[in-house]
Amino acid sequence: MTDLLEPRAIGQALVRRDGEAKVRGTATYAYETPVEDPAYCHPVQATIARGRVTAVDTTAAAALDGVLRILTPFDAERLASTEDAEYAVLQSPEIAFRGQLVGVVIAETSEVARQAADAVVVTYAEQEHDSTLAVDRDDLYAPEQVNAGHETDTAEGDVAAAMATAEVSIERTYSTAMYHNNPLEPHATTALWDADAQFLTLWDSTQGVHPDRAAVCEVFGLDQEQVRVVCPYVGGGFGSKGRPHANVMLAAMAARALPGRPVKLALTRQQMFFLAGYRTPTIQQLQLAADRRGRLQAIAIDVVEQTSRIKEFAEQTGVPTRMMYAAPNRRSTHRLAALDVPVPSWFRAPGECPGMFGPEVAMDELAEELGIDPVELRIRNEPEVDPETKKPWSSRNLVRCLREGAERFGWADRPRGRRDGDWLVGYGVASSVYPTMRQATSTATLRFEDGRYVAEIGAADLGTGAWTILPQITADALDVDVADVEVRIGDTRYPTASVAGGSSGTNTWGSALVVAARAFRDKFGGSPADGDEVSGDVDQAAKDDAHAPYAFGAQFVEARVHADTGEIRLPRLLGVFGVGRVVNPRTARSQLIGGMTMGLSMALHENSVWDPRIGQVANHDLAEYHITVNADVGEIEALWIDEHDPYVNVMGTKGIGEIGITGTAAAVVNAVHAATGVRVRDLPVTLDKLL
Ligand code: MOS
Repeated sequence: MTDLLEPRAIGQALVRRDGEAKVRGTATYAYETPVEDPAYCHPVQATIARGRVTAVDTTAAAALDGVLRILTPFDAERLASTEDAEYAVLQSPEIAFRGQLVGVVIAETSEVARQAADAVVVTYAEQEHDSTLAVDRDDLYAPEQVNAGHETDTAEGDVAAAMATAEVSIERTYSTAMYHNNPLEPHATTALWDADAQFLTLWDSTQGVHPDRAAVCEVFGLDQEQVRVVCPYVGGGFGSKGRPHANVMLAAMAARALPGRPVKLALTRQQMFFLAGYRTPTIQQLQLAADRRGRLQAIAIDVVEQTSRIKEFAEQTGVPTRMMYAAPNRRSTHRLAALDVPVPSWFRAPGECPGMFGPEVAMDELAEELGIDPVELRIRNEPEVDPETKKPWSSRNLVRCLREGAERFGWADRPRGRRDGDWLVGYGVASSVYPTMRQATSTATLRFEDGRYVAEIGAADLGTGAWTILPQITADALDVDVADVEVRIGDTRYPTASVAGGSSGTNTWGSALVVAARAFRDKFGGSPADGDEVSGDVDQAAKDDAHAPYAFGAQFVEARVHADTGEIRLPRLLGVFGVGRVVNPRTARSQLIGGMTMGLSMALHENSVWDPRIGQVANHDLAEYHITVNADVGEIEALWIDEHDPYVNVMGTKGIGEIGITGTAAAVVNAVHAATGVRVRDLPVTLDKLL
């Protein structure tokens, strides 16, 4: 148990420190880093889904004015490590998915590079490919573990027996679509090797400069001291920049072909659909058994999803089912198909986001079957301790979130299939959850410099608010005015920091900053001298392993469905969350409503439509991959309860970047069902499914 920091700056709705620079356009992003005489890259991508490159004819491309170099699998430098097949760019003529990198053109302008890339003629020996995910494939396999190190399968008791004898049981299959990360800033890099190719600088759009550097060093066989990664600003990542993708390795490789000259590489919107990761489609088979009073006797989820043939990523979709509700008989499994498809990766709340869809719709279906209010059904199945680990919760306020949300939303007076003119109206609810994580590695230094406290840590701000809230935490730990504190982030010249992922940034970097601040205070007292400096490590911060730490929430949705056309409108969304202490209500609210908006988008709009004949996403463009826009969102509100959690960390924070997207899509489906009586079990909910 920790005494939480006394909040002074913490809890203030301070404006973003980076806001003005962003609004004025003076904040430089990776691609726009001012460098002298840059060259520009354009990738060449495979136009088959499986086979090998037999020849590359660069004659016409090389003849274009302004083309500097063209690299192909036959002449590119050999990398030190090809262990990670996603990163082994141009190392082999083998093609594992359509859109794979098979070359790069470096030219004086981006236009010439693109034109020349189109003029490169690649000849292939094509093989049949297989890219269709299905539950009855005979090659499904169990991965060794699933993302974030979770067990692949878990089991307790006897689900089959409970299903056979229970008073009420439901068995349903749900599916979520394939989703592509589309941050506003595409994946982009400016890369520069010094003249003798001994030192590499990467200005790269990344969720973590140190993990980014580590991956590049591994691939190129470099010491950490030979590479600097700089990234002060990121135009969104959502997980897709949590680990570098092949484009970063290609940019570094292209730059090494022109030592001393900077090169720039930005993926186009279309290229991002092949190279920047995505969320696997999931098929979720759910079983729930309960007694007449709604107490769950069994809960089981069996997940089928895909990965690529060359690199495994196993989304942990079954994981939230393991801990959400009490039931004596439980099971969760994950099975994968390794297909001729691009490499899937992190996408906001991997695991929890798709994994809170099937179960939270199933709970609604069970509630209907039992004739019990779905809010009440959840409350009746509230576990005393974490059903998975049997540890007590660090704090679990799901019931408070459900009750407060119900009260504010007017749940008691909810319409069920009420008709308002031509519109059918219904309300839906679902729970949200996200684990509270803290990474093992992160260091901060704190120095007194020109009358101010300056902290340095290689953290990242994806638009999330880190630039603003890390000074708030540091100021409170030092007991000084937040205006006297500056925290510098986004550069490997600063001490090592963990990835901005798993909603763990604030928990991790904040803990390191507090250790540094307290050490500074102990050493130098209240009147330090210029140059006084200490460092602090997250591993020196108190850590509790005796409790199960999670953030919880409840989301409420009003759906209006046009009786004749099936058009769906969502005039109201409300999320009530228990996320520990909120450091900055302004940036926190943005995180939560951003997550909810993305959940709405998942429910109604987003869908990477796979064409199995050619093995690619048919709508690989923002023109056709629909993302929720302002006009799709009515009133959206995110609130949080006052929650004091002394076990998570000294700030009392639980992480807020991802919980907002969990459960939203289920609440939408449940609301649409309340309005229309139609249960959509396959996302997205489009009007054709309602007619
Ligand atoms: Mo988040 S998908 O863990 O970056």
